[in-house]
Amino acid sequence: MTNPWSSEVKFSDGKLSLCRISATDLAREFGTPTFFLDEEDFRSRATAWGYSLKDSFGENAGTVYYAAKSFICVEVARWIDQSGIGLDVCTGGELAVAIAAGFPPARMELHGNNKSVAEINQAVENGIGKIIIDSLYEIERIAAAAKACGVRQKVMLRLTPGIEAHTHEFISTAHEDVKFGFSIASGVAWQAIIAVHHHEDLELVGFHSHIGSQILDTEPFGEAADRLIALLARYRDEFGAELPELNLGGGYGISYLESDDPLSPNQAMFALAAAVTDSCKRNDLHIPKISIEPGRAIVGPSMFTLYEVGTVKEVVLDDGGTRNYISVDGGMSDNIRTSLYGAEYVGVIANRAASAALRQSRVVGKHCESGDIVIRDIQLPVDVVPGDFLAVPATGAYCRSMASNYNHVPRPPVVAVSNGKARVILRRETLSDLLSLDV
Ligand code: LLP
Repeated sequence: MTNPWSSEVKFSDGKLSLCRISATDLAREFGTPTFFLDEEDFRSRATAWGYSLKDSFGENAGTVYYAAKSFICVEVARWIDQSGIGLDVCTGGELAVAIAAGFPPARMELHGNNKSVAEINQAVENGIGKIIIDSLYEIERIAAAAKACGVRQKVMLRLTPGIEAHTHEFISTAHEDVKFGFSIASGVAWQAIIAVHHHEDLELVGFHSHIGSQILDTEPFGEAADRLIALLARYRDEFGAELPELNLGGGYGISYLESDDPLSPNQAMFALAAAVTDSCKRNDLHIPKISIEPGRAIVGPSMFTLYEVGTVKEVVLDDGGTRNYISVDGGMSDNIRTSLYGAEYVGVIANRAASAALRQSRVVGKHCESGDIVIRDIQLPVDVVPGDFLAVPATGAYCRSMASNYNHVPRPPVVAVSNGKARVILRRETLSDLLSLDV
């Protein structure tokens, strides 16, 4: 049994509170739907990954890069900076947020399988620490930007080690049949290595792989590391020098359901260190500096979404049973993960003790689609009524960051709660925001 709620969420008499502020008070002050972010929980996860990397790899610890795609705003970029870890951005937009936050560019890296020339220039001009090259086209594009800025840009190569991570097809990224990176098996990776190695405007510092997301076991990370290390050995044999770095990506899973059993940062990093050490020994290599890029495992558990129930409808099912459709004031525009990946969530009535009998229920949104589902199957009290508040945990990663304006619904705010105080760090979109785009 694991707990999908952040550390400062408590239940007393069935009522939810975050840092001693009740869900009802939060909803009254900030409206619904709203993402509530447990600031201390977030900060302690960010530092925990940093410490675990250092404890496990010692002098060979590289950098923990928080994956901005999971969730970023200016204030969160500042927290990441204060925690001393790095930041992984993958578009000009994410980079712009980081720069607005004053994030040190040297502690940032740029990803993306189709970075525009403008994004590459923006990154190089700002002095970004590293760019992870994803295609042969990018080699000349980055080299041109580096030459124009008079710098030798540090780069890594994103490789697909051919690992099938056990997760949803759309979030599995390191098998052969994907758009990302250079295939090791096909030989394209080696072609890219040679091209970058001979380039005077680029400094190849190592290899990168990201095998997928929401991974709950250690083995696939070790296997990916082993394949990259074998390539480091081939590089050493060919060029007579060892590349100093390896970035093994993100993908560490979290608890969405009580039955999910995620790795702690220490478990994940100790296992990775054992695999890397063993593989380097077999290949007679020094251990390179190891970096990772967790996103979900830092922000995911730190937020919950609070909705207000608007309607409740009972339907009779083919088997004679019944189901309650509980409609909330958000839906696929603030959490697309259920309809996109079949993601599963739990939820609770947050404003009162709910002691009535449970009924098979489905939590749905307000959008014009039958697939607009937040929680497909959940047992909720039969007496849920309009005006109740429903809280869904573990919505920090890939919910607000993948939010849309479908049906012209303004995107919800993010409210940070810490030390008994709540403050908006990303405000709710307004209808004027939406209308401001019309010309
Ligand atoms: N590094 C790279 C290169 C990535 O592509 C990603 C995620 C990460 C790090 C961070 O992965 P994490 O630690 O957060 O699993 N929208 C999907 C997840 C897509 C992940 C994309 N890349 C979802 O909601 O499950």
